[in-house]
Amino acid sequence: MDTSERLRNEGREQLTRPTSSAELEEARVAVLGRSSPLTAALRELPSLAPEKRKAAGASLNRVRQELEAVYAERRDVLAGAELEVRLAADAVDVTLPGDPVAIGVPHLLTQTTREIEDIFIGLGYRVAEGPELDLDYYNFTALNTPEDHPARLSSDTFWVSDHVALRPQTSPVQVRAMEQQPPPIYIVCPGRCYRRDALDATHSPWFMQVEGLAVDRGLTLADLKGTLEHFARELFGGDRKIRLRSHFFPFTEPSVEIDVSCFLCEGAGCAVCKQIGWIELGGAGVVDPNVYSFVEGYDPEEISGFAFGWGIERIAMLKHGITHIRNLYDNDLRFNEQWAGSTLAGVGR
Ligand code: FA5
Repeated sequence: MDTSERLRNEGREQLTRPTSSAELEEARVAVLGRSSPLTAALRELPSLAPEKRKAAGASLNRVRQELEAVYAERRDVLAGAELEVRLAADAVDVTLPGDPVAIGVPHLLTQTTREIEDIFIGLGYRVAEGPELDLDYYNFTALNTPEDHPARLSSDTFWVSDHVALRPQTSPVQVRAMEQQPPPIYIVCPGRCYRRDALDATHSPWFMQVEGLAVDRGLTLADLKGTLEHFARELFGGDRKIRLRSHFFPFTEPSVEIDVSCFLCEGAGCAVCKQIGWIELGGAGVVDPNVYSFVEGYDPEEISGFAFGWGIERIAMLKHGITHIRNLYDNDLRFNEQWAGSTLAGVGR
């Protein structure tokens, strides 16, 4: 066997043995690289006698071309096989079910707020908003609250400067809303309020209220009572009754506290109503004519109206038997998730 034939057989054998691209590359370097026996033989050609040189050169070059072709074919076969292995490993089965996605639900306070809003929207009210940080003008002065009223004290209200405080109630929205549109006006305004109250089962330094304001021609306390009765029946169901007890607020005259007949015992007396048969809902009254004097275009000789306001936590706690207001703010998912779907009011918004 001459040198060319030996190099061809050995080279072919070395190039066909590898089972991976990495092994094949090693074989290529050994068979066709600069230090390979084939390259060494080609380098020796000039030292051969001229009559042998031509035939030996042609034969060695044929071997090189042949081995390069073997190498190229082998390289393609191995690369194709390796690609298939990779594709099989990476394959995604799109027919498998996906990982379940946890779907959140609105917080119970949000659900309750929307439930309240929906009842009043059904009566033709619109939802208004106001700032949580407001001027003493809107917080107190325009609500007919005298300079020496205890609610203005820093022991009751969070003041951030001489004339700006975190609103202690949603009532400042009354004047802000009236400033923005002439009568008639029918609004509800839910939102956060702040008072320097110690935390106990039913009080928190931050809490939510919803304010209502209706101003039109000829509105009376009877309209307020009818509105509240409708609200109580929609929210608590059944044949709820409303009781108004005399009270005082600077911005309403007369002022009342609203009680609703207990939705659990129908007025017979139970733990929820503390055996009284009635549950306190919030405050209300006929808008004091003095309040209109702070708003242009609201003439107390021509218009009249009523306002009401209550705590949203209180409604949620009563409706769902929650015993501590803190539960609504701890953000314990085990608590919050109990109210998934407790009302449809929040879904999809
Ligand atoms: C008011 O705040 C009046 N603005 C209500 C009103 C509106 C009267 C319009 C007339 C016309 P009061 O201070 O009673 O009223 O508070 C109303 C409700 O807010 C309470 O019944 C209670 O449910 C809730 N509330 C008050 N303070 C707190 C507190 N610290 N934590 C939780 N809820 C509170």
